[in-house]
Amino acid sequence: MSTYDFNERYEDYEADFDPMRYDRQARRKRKPKVVHTPKKSKWEVIAEIADTAGLEAGFQTTYQPGLFEEGWLLESLRVFYEMDYVTDVLARIRGGKEASVYRCQTTAKTGMTLAAAKVYRPRRFRNLRNDALYREGRAYLKEDGKAIKNNEHRLMRAIGKKTQLGEQLEHTSWLMYEYSTLQRLYAAGANVPQALAVGENAILMGYCGDEQMAAPTLNTVSLESAEARRLFDTTLYNVELMLQHGLIHGDLSAYNILYWHGDITLIDFPQVIDSRTNPSAFAVLQRDITRVCEYFASQGVDADADVIADRLWKHFMTGSTLNQMADASLFETDDE
Ligand SMILES: Nc1ncnc2c1ncn2[C@@H]1O[C@H](COP(=O)(O)OP(=O)(O)OP(=O)(O)O)[C@@H](O)[C@H]1O
Ligand SMILES: [Mg+2]
Repeated sequence: MSTYDFNERYEDYEADFDPMRYDRQARRKRKPKVVHTPKKSKWEVIAEIADTAGLEAGFQTTYQPGLFEEGWLLESLRVFYEMDYVTDVLARIRGGKEASVYRCQTTAKTGMTLAAAKVYRPRRFRNLRNDALYREGRAYLKEDGKAIKNNEHRLMRAIGKKTQLGEQLEHTSWLMYEYSTLQRLYAAGANVPQALAVGENAILMGYCGDEQMAAPTLNTVSLESAEARRLFDTTLYNVELMLQHGLIHGDLSAYNILYWHGDITLIDFPQVIDSRTNPSAFAVLQRDITRVCEYFASQGVDADADVIADRLWKHFMTGSTLNQMADASLFETDDE
């Protein structure tokens, strides 16, 4: 089933996460929906999906998903089950507006006992967030992780015209940026989860936490002053490592840093931007560093975000460092 079909089928599941659901005024202002009569009742559709995704596929989970969550979840994770990577879904770590993340039981093949599966929301909701800024100056990535070339006219036209295919390509690209960034940064020694596998709608990666609980995000953690200083330095080291690879996180803050046993892990990369081609790169870097500094200031670390951003920008984006990076394309095309 294509991602596009998913979106049509899961309207009710989406409604569960609709930020306007409990806000009557906002709902009234919203444009009325075009009413259409589906060929099948929603119950028929759900029963059909639950049937094929759950029972026939033999993929049953300890975690009991909600009625509208089940089909989407199992369809999204089925690929990992078929690859013999995942044997069970143990719990939902977090159900958010853009993605839900689940703790999964894995096989020895993965080299891990537990993994985190990030399942993206159907595309429509993810797009509530304005992602145009992030797309500037960055190529579209296909499902093999390679960039679409400008001479792939059919694909470029589909994106330009926002056809079904175009929207699906955008969806894939968004997901592939997260996956390939995790791969690249993990290989470079950054504090990020190891990317294990990617499906049409989900990423399987290293899990931070234990059987009982997932690592908390840093914004909920109070640090001793020496530890705060050390983790601040680690965070900046990761920002530098990204710049060395021509990357800027784009949504970095204590909300996207996990804390576990004195160590941190940076997560949530779909909006990563190209520091060399995005016209807003410096402003985005400044914002990332400002947010990081805000959290660490609350933990007693005194640092000037603007000074740090200037220093990093000058160091990585001018002169010899930039020349060294110039030849290395960020993401491969088919030519390479
Ligand atoms: N590898 C992981 N190990 C443990 N927990 C994780 C992992 N990845 C994500 N999480 C948990 O899932 C949450 C959401 O993940 P992430 O930040 O990648 O998605 P998101 O796009 O911000 O989703 P939303 O906008 O819906 O919050 C994180 O805040 C964290 O609590
Ligand atoms: Mg996040």
